[in-house]
Amino acid sequence: MKRKLYIRTYGCQMNVYDSARMAEVLAPLGYVATDTAEDADMILLNTCHIREKAADKLFSDLGRLWPLKARKAHSGGTLVLAVAGCVAQAEGAEIRARAPYVDLVLGPQTYHRLPEMIARLARGEGPVLDTEFPPEPKFDFLPAIASPQAVSAFLSVQEGCDKFCTFCVVPYTRGAEFSRPAAAILAEAERLIDHGAREITLLGQNVNAYHGAGGDDEIWGLGRLIRALGALPGLQRLRYTTSHPRDMSDELIAAHRDVAALMPFLHLPVQSGADRVLEAMNRGHTIDDYRRTIDKLRAARPDIALSSDFIVGFPGESDADFAATLDLVREIGFVQAYSFKYSKRPGTPGAALCGQIPEAVKAARLQMLQDLLDTHQRRFNEACAGRVLPVLFEKPGRHPGQLVGRSPYLQWVHAAAPPRCQGMVMPVRIAGIGPNSLAGAVEVEEVTA
Ligand code: SAH
Ligand code: SF4
Ligand code: F3S
Repeated sequence: MKRKLYIRTYGCQMNVYDSARMAEVLAPLGYVATDTAEDADMILLNTCHIREKAADKLFSDLGRLWPLKARKAHSGGTLVLAVAGCVAQAEGAEIRARAPYVDLVLGPQTYHRLPEMIARLARGEGPVLDTEFPPEPKFDFLPAIASPQAVSAFLSVQEGCDKFCTFCVVPYTRGAEFSRPAAAILAEAERLIDHGAREITLLGQNVNAYHGAGGDDEIWGLGRLIRALGALPGLQRLRYTTSHPRDMSDELIAAHRDVAALMPFLHLPVQSGADRVLEAMNRGHTIDDYRRTIDKLRAARPDIALSSDFIVGFPGESDADFAATLDLVREIGFVQAYSFKYSKRPGTPGAALCGQIPEAVKAARLQMLQDLLDTHQRRFNEACAGRVLPVLFEKPGRHPGQLVGRSPYLQWVHAAAPPRCQGMVMPVRIAGIGPNSLAGAVEVEEVTA
């Protein structure tokens, strides 16, 4: 019997990966994806807990979805409402209390048990709350990739975090650091490629802390894993995210020099430009360490483009500290970045610190930082005009006869190209620079980088 599954995903790319895996876990039960919540037999919200607004959004979405359940029951059907992900992990009991109509509440480490949870529900055992950190890693129980893949696919290689930055909930919601064995990752990558992927982005909350069993009695770091993946036939491009500055090993930096498939783009969150703030955040490195890492990366791969995350208004951040962040942005010249106002998260050490910054000050700092980051991004994009960039076409573009794909630097590029070029890397001469994407024309021959 076919049943319709509607999944809404919030948060980071790991949640996007998890949502895809949950769909595959549910497929043998007859669930097929739908884009509309209204006709679903199961609604699954895969949630994020990173900032305050993320959880608020869940409760307002639940309020809107609840009537669908009543409507379905009225017409003699059943709608299973499930909340997964990091809010479920952190606030499972609160979800049960505030939204008792939710049938399943499950954390990020238990979704391989979804069929069992649905069976319990069907037996009338009532709502299920499963936010354990089971000793068996879920990856051992997930079915092999069987569905067609987008040109650009995600692959989780590492999960969890032991770093405990004082602002962050991830070590509590995802648990301790865990690396999958290299053989399992290589097998999954091959399946992704067989099912249509041409680019793979390796994922982990701390992806460059990867230290998985290599199958040769050795522990592999991410650099070694990337070398092995870079040799897979059919794979055009490799990326990885999110990295911590502390874990940029020499081996990984050397991979940027040696592995042709590894794209010259790195997201390396620094959070702040002030050593005092980095220390209070427990980031475990100084600005000078960060500079040295960037220097090494640029020596290994001169065209590498850098991206980052920033938090403004961390407790105790002075005007001078904030000015140091602006200085660092000018010095490094990030081509893209995400920036956020510090959000106090219950249970994290940062929430208890004195020197919390008023909302208005945070807002003003964020505006200044984002203006500066936008200027750098625009400048970088403008400098691409007239250049020929290899573009991996991913999907149809805005207009008929167009495809859109990514440059090596993650910029979206539109160009006129026939549908058969989807999944191919083509040289595109950049002509137009828009606010969110570039436009250009395909030059004749195909390239491979
Ligand atoms: N593991 C990554 C970050 C994961 S969270 C790293 O170590 O860099 C993604 C981003 O969300 C962080 O880089 C940070 O900029 C932001 N973030 C995390 N917690 C936050 C909080 N409490 N308030 C505001 N932004 C936060
Ligand atoms: Fe959070 Fe820090 Fe771990 Fe990143 S390294 S996930 S910011 S605790
Ligand atoms: Fe959010 Fe959890 Fe990812 S808190 S950012 S979904 S790890």
